[in-house]
Amino acid sequence: MSASQAVTGHNASVNRATAEIDLDAIAANIERLRAAAPESLLQAVVKADAYGHGIVPVARAARGAGADYLGVALPSEAMALRESGDTGPIMCWLYTPDEDLSACAAADIEISVSSISMLEQVVSAGQRSEVRVGIHLKLDSGLGRNGSTPQEWEPLVREAKRQQDDGNVEIVGIWSHLACADEPESPATQQQLRLFCQGLATAADFDVQPRLRHLAATAGTLAFPESHFDMVRCGIGIYGLTPGGGLGSAADLGLVPAMTVRARVALTKVVDSGHGVSYGHTYRTSAQTRLALIPVGYGDGIPRAGSGSLPVDIRGKRYTAAGTIAMDQFVVDVGDDQIEAGDVVELFGAGAAGAATADEWAADSGTIGYEIVTRLGARIPRSYVGANS
Ligand SMILES: Cc1ncc(COP(=O)(O)O)c(C=O)c1O
Repeated sequence: MSASQAVTGHNASVNRATAEIDLDAIAANIERLRAAAPESLLQAVVKADAYGHGIVPVARAARGAGADYLGVALPSEAMALRESGDTGPIMCWLYTPDEDLSACAAADIEISVSSISMLEQVVSAGQRSEVRVGIHLKLDSGLGRNGSTPQEWEPLVREAKRQQDDGNVEIVGIWSHLACADEPESPATQQQLRLFCQGLATAADFDVQPRLRHLAATAGTLAFPESHFDMVRCGIGIYGLTPGGGLGSAADLGLVPAMTVRARVALTKVVDSGHGVSYGHTYRTSAQTRLALIPVGYGDGIPRAGSGSLPVDIRGKRYTAAGTIAMDQFVVDVGDDQIEAGDVVELFGAGAAGAATADEWAADSGTIGYEIVTRLGARIPRSYVGANS
């Protein structure tokens, strides 16, 4: 950026709005998480378009930084990774009874299994593709979401072992997911650890001792070493956001936010005191002032719940969204400051020089950083910087 660009905030690479993803930050975050669980493999969780960061570039950067596995929710996400040329271990964990998993089986995607009917679905997919499918048996150790109940665990393990002996599946992993690992004081994590270990012992009774036992996501990786087992599955930490305020801010945790969202001021105008701003006139100017129009809104994933509170940075100074955030635009009151149409607005980013982070946006709009980055809309193009870009 030239000196004059730095002063005016002009930056030709930003049109209406852009999300810049720093792949070096992703690599550094993976290193940080790996250092927290040095004995375990690391699975980079890249579901939901890598939490809005772009699944293919993030997956490549993660592999480049040494991620051993990639994790996704959906079979279609796993296939997108294979179609991008990724040949390493990938697991997926969310599908419905009518889904045809044979392409996944043929593509050597490992599939999570929570029930005997899911096992049957995976076995028949493998038979159609004439391959033995790698599976991860999932126990619900207390999250109350996906996974086998402890009561249904023993029959599931027994049947999976029978299918393994018949050559239809390979039980690669046993896994579960923590509910409250971002609250270090919660007793739920120790209770889940106990149930998980009981599930492993039950499996061992049936001579099922897979090479990958895994339980921890980012919060468990950072706060509960006893949850690391053979692999940790990290999502939010690799994107540089906190898994929960109970563990401290991303900066406290040594994580660097990878996504910076910028827009350009579309219009400025001076209005009189008492001028209502945006739908419902929830904000009214208190003096003659300049309004700057930011051309992004909830149609781009900007949280409407942040109306009146979201911070933005223009020319190195913080302003606050004034009035209601609309579908395509919102307004900031910049007072007497010489803000011009075309100036670059940093919405959120790495938190450098006092600008906001996605975690701050989350706090100001009653949600979590995960949601701020993941729901950033497709109308905002992603661009990539860093050695892996
Ligand atoms: C099963 C599973 N494992 C791991 C993760 C990664 O969690 P986090 O983003 O908190 O690291 C997720 C994300 O929600 C998940 O659903």
